[in-house]
Amino acid sequence: MNDGTISLSNFWLPKQNSTFAKNVDFAWDVVTWVSIFFFLLIVVAMCWFVYRYRRRAEGEKTSTVDHNLQLEVTWTIIPLAIVIGLFVVGFRGYVNAAVAPGDAYEIRVAAQKWSWTFFYPNGAKSLNELVVPAGRPVKLTMSSKDVLHSLFIAEFRVKQDVVPGTYTSLWFEALEPGETMLECTEYCGKDHSNMLAKVRILDATAFTDWVEKANAANANLPPEKVGEGVYTKICSACHSTDGSPRAAPSFKGLFGKQESFNDGSSATVDDNYIRESILTPNAKIVKGFAGVMPPFQGALSEQEIAGLIAFIKAQK
Ligand code: CUA
Repeated sequence: MNDGTISLSNFWLPKQNSTFAKNVDFAWDVVTWVSIFFFLLIVVAMCWFVYRYRRRAEGEKTSTVDHNLQLEVTWTIIPLAIVIGLFVVGFRGYVNAAVAPGDAYEIRVAAQKWSWTFFYPNGAKSLNELVVPAGRPVKLTMSSKDVLHSLFIAEFRVKQDVVPGTYTSLWFEALEPGETMLECTEYCGKDHSNMLAKVRILDATAFTDWVEKANAANANLPPEKVGEGVYTKICSACHSTDGSPRAAPSFKGLFGKQESFNDGSSATVDDNYIRESILTPNAKIVKGFAGVMPPFQGALSEQEIAGLIAFIKAQK
């Protein structure tokens, strides 16, 4: 943890406490040092040229400046190679950070002016305190209740916008137990700068303990159970869970599937697709079905929608 003292190792950047941190910092260091190198090279050369080729006498003619093919090719090829190298490092890091491992522990995040609420798979929730296990991939699926926010955990080197009406996600794997800070990094109004949460990283057993106790205190239904309730009441008339066709596609094996639509397009079934299909079902109609489902915009709470998504995910 950062105890406030500044040493050489934390002068530039906070402690590295995720599997990404090393690679992110490497890319950062390369960009910084390449920039410093070229800044010095160009500025020193410029100053020297200004001195060396100054006009020495009234009436002195400017010498004819011609091009130099070798020089121009050199100063095109070398920077090109450097930026391609940076792109490769950056792109690999980006892809790695964008796609969570399939077995990641999923925590849902609701942002609002000006607080963070975290929902755990067993029904536990916490306000302005994110508790995560160390040494295990954790995926955050996030949405906002009002305006744009952005979730940033410096020690994990992760940042992602949190947007109303859609889900965004990020993932990380913390290296060791400790405590750090989560900040909002999108200007979201008067108390933006106070929109902070504590991040507590616990070892596996302590985390299991915490998450069980946290829900014993709240006695919330796990999201999957919330979803099951909604399913039984509303969806089951048209959607089966055993693969048998009713008026609409079955939920069995639905999540992660490639779905084809009546207009010839296709998409992978993920959180955002399910959300859209609940709120505005006619946006995409699965091939072979009719658009008979009523829109549920405004009829279901965010918690019920998240619950249905968890329930559908569980119908393998
Ligand atoms: Cu939320 Cu700034």
